[in-house]
Amino acid sequence: MRRVVFNQKGGVGKSTITCNLAAINAVEGRKTLVIDLDIQANSTQYLLGKKVAESEKTIAHFFKDCLSLSLFGGNNSGLENIIVETPFPNLYVIPSHSDLESLQSRLEARMKNFKLREALEKLTGFDDVYLDTPPVLNFYSQSALIAADKCLIPFDCDSFSREALYMLMQTIAEIKADHNQKLDIEGIIVNQFQKQANLPQQLVEALVAEGLPVLGTMISPSVKVRESHSASQPLVHFVPKHKLTDEFKALYAEIHKS
Ligand SMILES: Nc1ncnc2c1ncn2[C@@H]1O[C@H](COP(=O)(O)OP(=O)(O)O)[C@@H](O)[C@H]1O
Ligand SMILES: [Mg+2]
Repeated sequence: MRRVVFNQKGGVGKSTITCNLAAINAVEGRKTLVIDLDIQANSTQYLLGKKVAESEKTIAHFFKDCLSLSLFGGNNSGLENIIVETPFPNLYVIPSHSDLESLQSRLEARMKNFKLREALEKLTGFDDVYLDTPPVLNFYSQSALIAADKCLIPFDCDSFSREALYMLMQTIAEIKADHNQKLDIEGIIVNQFQKQANLPQQLVEALVAEGLPVLGTMISPSVKVRESHSASQPLVHFVPKHKLTDEFKALYAEIHKS
């Protein structure tokens, strides 16, 4: 299964959710690949403890290869050679790189936004792939939405985010209609949900009343998220018995129950 975690708003929890669900998936014994498509490289940092050095393997190498067409045998852009092992069993990452920025306009001009999907279809040996995206609908987030089977949408209980949510659902529907019929919205994940406060409750109730696919498991705010980012250890490894880890496990179970 290929999942993309996307919302064009920054700071809603895309990287946190990508890495923590992927880490739980790996603990469940499934070989898991995270692909970091955000130039900020937060998932890369979270899983590897560093942003990668210039010479190392990154997703930018893959996209550069996509631009260097060989007349003899086409281009040989694959993902196998840029996969990096994390310290956690069964969990692998393709790191992001700042070169993504300068590559973007050429990739767009040459319509390379199906290349990631083609490469993932050829990739063997992984049970599941999680795609982390930048906080904008650009070439890379489009490539991820075209490559994925399911889309998870983090939502941060802010009324501006609610308006943006409708645009986002529209964008995903359009990509599904035009480019990727397999793409389904798996659910909206309410992150940093404050149970005691009125406004977040009302916002979530309104979304549910409008028929939006809000997942039942909501993620609480906790300092453990920041601490686990700093420690470069997903919660299931950093604080295996913490309430927040249980919430992520419950979210994982909810997504996988069907
Ligand atoms: N449930 C949470 N509780 C506390 N802090 C959180 C939570 N989820 C995310 N954060 C913090 O919010 C910030 C943005 O999260 P991040 O996952 O990087 O979002 P995005 O990838 O959408 O930009 C990070 O500093 C992260 O530590
Ligand atoms: Mg992020």
